[in-house]
This record gives sequence, structure tokens and C-alpha cells, in this order.
Amino acid sequence: MIQTFALTAVACAALAATLPLAVRRLALSRAKHPSLSGHSRMAKRVATLIPGYAYDESRFFDCDDAPAAVAAQRRAALQRLASLFGKRFARSLALTAEAAEGLSDLQFTGAYRVPFQFSPLLREHLRTGSFVQASSGVTIEDLDGNLFYDLTGSYGVNVFGYDFYKGCIAAGVAQAQRLGPVLGAYHPCVASNVEKLRAISGLDEVSFHMSGTEAVMQAVRLARYHTRRSHLVRFCGAYHGWWEDVQPGPGNPLPPRETYTLKEMDEATLHVLRTRRDIACVLVNPLQALHPNVSAPGDSSLVDSSRRAHFDRAAYTAWLRALRAVCSERGIVLIFDEVFVGFRLAPGGAQAYFGVRADMVTYGKTLGGGLPVGVVCGKRELMKRYRPDRPVDICFARGTFNSHPYVMGAMHAFLERIERPEVRALYEGLDARWDQRALTLNQRLRDVGLPVQVANLSSIWTVCYTQPSRYNWMLQYYLRAHGLALSWVGTGRLIFSLNYSDEDFEAVVQRFVAAALEMQADGWWWHDAALTNRSIKRGILREMFAHRF
Ligand SMILES: Cc1ncc(COP(=O)(O)O)c(C=O)c1O
Repeated sequence: MIQTFALTAVACAALAATLPLAVRRLALSRAKHPSLSGHSRMAKRVATLIPGYAYDESRFFDCDDAPAAVAAQRRAALQRLASLFGKRFARSLALTAEAAEGLSDLQFTGAYRVPFQFSPLLREHLRTGSFVQASSGVTIEDLDGNLFYDLTGSYGVNVFGYDFYKGCIAAGVAQAQRLGPVLGAYHPCVASNVEKLRAISGLDEVSFHMSGTEAVMQAVRLARYHTRRSHLVRFCGAYHGWWEDVQPGPGNPLPPRETYTLKEMDEATLHVLRTRRDIACVLVNPLQALHPNVSAPGDSSLVDSSRRAHFDRAAYTAWLRALRAVCSERGIVLIFDEVFVGFRLAPGGAQAYFGVRADMVTYGKTLGGGLPVGVVCGKRELMKRYRPDRPVDICFARGTFNSHPYVMGAMHAFLERIERPEVRALYEGLDARWDQRALTLNQRLRDVGLPVQVANLSSIWTVCYTQPSRYNWMLQYYLRAHGLALSWVGTGRLIFSLNYSDEDFEAVVQRFVAAALEMQADGWWWHDAALTNRSIKRGILREMFAHRF
């Protein structure tokens, strides 16, 4: 009897000890997005299981079970495009082939332009040139003298047009010339950059780094140092550069450790933030407002037509306010990663655009005036890298090229130029202008019965497809043939610079619609009732099993 009682008491004690842990664990699970992107560890495991296989000539054109006549039409279209590309882009293609041999990055981007099943055959027949020689206005020129309207936005760097950045770089070089590449000591323009950035960010201190990735790394390190907590929270799908802790899933050989990947715009996440004690900071990439909880939409994952995007400014603002409140309540550092959206949405960045203030903000890309940079702005108490009462307990951050005089000079020119009336004017009615342009393109696409629509967050756009298809990624090649340049993620991300005039935009619309009509006429969007996004995914799963076992 006594023994039973003792055992029961032990069991109860054990339960009491483990219950809170289990409850916290459960809360964490509830705050994870159900998709694989919400489960970094599992996603990594799945990534290692997916077998490599590719469609050969016999399957490439009818993997959606299209009739033979449609497959023949597609085959002829590919041959026609290949011949066109071969002639029109001859020099660019030749140099790309030559350089790819020793340029790992080019091999990688070249392989991941489209879903992997299609990639080998496409690379053999429809190669893409990766070299350009000039830019002007809103166009870039390849080695063969072809002009393309630039929809790449140079990864988001190009907010004001390439000529603007050429001007910033030239002014920066002129300013830094007498000093040259002296590092360690600062060029006097650094002091002015600091003052301007403090005013823009509304924060007390600034540190300069060499890339956006480094800036985020430093912000997170400082948050951990000052809170003495281990974990960072990032949101499902959000990109923050490529260092370990912000990329805990596939792409990173190490397993996730001090990172929680949680659902964005979700009460369960707020509950985790309210109840856990190990969270140092929350990282927000406001670009996700266009597609919360979904990874950057690249065409390599465009296996069907389930890509969706929609920007709801009021809902995202409410979410940021809720985050702000819980972070203040719990002493969690709220970091806005504005490396992408900073200066694109508003002169004061996402903080001003959404009317919510962060404790730290990271900037990069465009802020360098066309040269590489990363910047952290933060509250004084968070930016300090040492503790006067514990002088050896420091938070280390250096970088040989930090505050490089030429970069600081170009940044100085950038910060000075964005105050000019003609640049300020670009921000007036910015969203209304770009929303209207998106509506115009969507209407024109609908008018001619094309299964394509765009969604946008101001000047950042993504292409969505309204009817199930396995071949949507082909659109990037038709767009290229019609003189529109996309980055290697294809139709997942179109980035406009703000200097696009109405005439420039109309030219893009005409080319876009013409390209999509041609693709439709070539049979790539053939469709029957049996073809659904679900049936496509099931079919791919079956193929994977067949290739694995
Ligand atoms: C939001 C965000 N953070 C960080 C980075 C990393 O910046 P970088 O490529 O300069 O290292 C990027 C790059 O795209 C980004 O979009």
C-alpha cells in the first residue's frame, strides 16, 4: 500500500515536472506552419530523400498526358525558340558556356531555373545567356546588342534606375579618391551617413557591414548578447540571407539549432512569444506581406499552378502591431529586416510604411548606392558591444571592408540624392501607381483569355497562374524572347525600378501579353478537366517513388 502510494507520488511528481515542458512543446508545434517550410528539420530530411530524375525527349512534352498533337506542337515550339535563342543571343550564350565551367554560381543558377525534372533537357536545348554589357534607363543590353526591359531589379538593389546608381558610384569615387582604399580610419562622409541613417531609422546608432547577410547576423548576435537568450524567431518562408541560423532548412548542411521557424500572422505564434523565456529576437522580412508563410517564389518550384500571393496592407499592419506589443511586453528584440524593402516602399522604409517601429533595423542592397553594403540601426542599449561592468564579456563584430571609403561615398551620394525633390516625387502616389499598373496588366491578360495574373506589393511583383499546368515556367523563356529580362528565379519575382514611365510600362505590358499569347498558341497551357494541381502533385509523387524504389 505504502509502496503503491510512493510510486503514485513519484509518477505525479514526474508528471508535474514534465507537464509544463510538454505544454510548451505543444504550443511550439501549434505555432509551426503545416507546410514543409514550417518544419525545417523534416524539410531537410525530405530533401535528402527526393531522387534525381529527369524527363527525356519522350516525356518532356507530355508529362501532363497531353494528346500527341499538343506534344508535337510543344516540341516544335521548343525547337523554334532554341534556334531563335541560338542566333539572337549567340555571344552571350558562348561566354556563358565558357564561364560556367569554372563559375560555380552560374552552374547552380543555371540548373535551378525550372523544376529539376525539366532542367537537363532544357539546358541542352534552350540555354540562357548570363552576361550583359550595358544598362540605360530601364533597359539592359546583352553581349549581342539586344535590349531588354529589366524586370530583375538587380535582386532589389535597383530602386531608382541604373543611371541613378552610376551617378552615386561616380560621386562616391570622386569623393573618396584622395583618401583611396584606406581602411580602419573613416572617411569624413561616414559621419554624415550615420546622422542621415539615424534620422531615417529613428534609431540611435548605426553599424556598417559588407552585405545584408552580415547585417542580419550582427543584429541577431547583439540581440542574443543583450537579452542573454539563445533563440531567434523567424517566420516560415522568410529570407534573411544565407548564414546558418536564418536558413535552418534545406540549403544548409547543418541541422536547425537556436532558431524557431513559426507561422506568420498567427495567434499561436504570439502565444509562443508570450510564454517562452528563451527568445532573444523576432526577425521580420516585410516582403513576406505579399505571400505570408511561403518561401520566395522561384520557378524551380513552379511544378503546378498553386502559387498564390496577395498583399493586405491593413492585415499586415495589424500583425506588426501585435508583434510590437508582445515583443515590448516580453523584452524580445523586434528586428525589421529591410534589406530588400528599405527605401522601396517609402523614404522611411517599412517602419514608416506600416507605422510600426522596430528595436533594430537592417538595411542593405540599394543603400550602398550601387556598391555592396549591410547596415544595422538600433537602439543605443542594443548596439553596445561591451559591458562596462564586465569588460571581457564583449559582443565581437568586425569586417575588413566595413565602412570602405568608396562604398561610404556612394552611400553618401545615395542618401543625399533621395532627398532631392525629383526623387521624393517618385514616392508620391507610389502604391496607387503600381497597383494600377498591376490591375492594367491583369485586365489585359484576362481580356485575351490568358491563364496568368500578377500580384504585387508596390513595385515588387510575382506571377500567378490561374489554371493547373506543369509548364508555367516556360513563360520565362517566352518573356525573354520578347525582350523582358528576369532574374534566375524567373516569373516568381519581377522587380521594377521606380523610374519606369507609363510608356516604358506599356511596352512591358505589350511584350508580356504577346509572350504569353505565343506560349498559349504553342500548346504549353493545354488543359483538361483531369488536370488539377492536386493530380499534378500526386503524379510527381508517384514518379519520385518509382525512381526511388
Ligand atoms: C530581407 C533580406 N535580408 C537579407 C538579405 C541578404 O542580403 P545579401 O544578399 O546582401 O547578403 C537579403 C537578400 O536578398 C534579403 O532580401
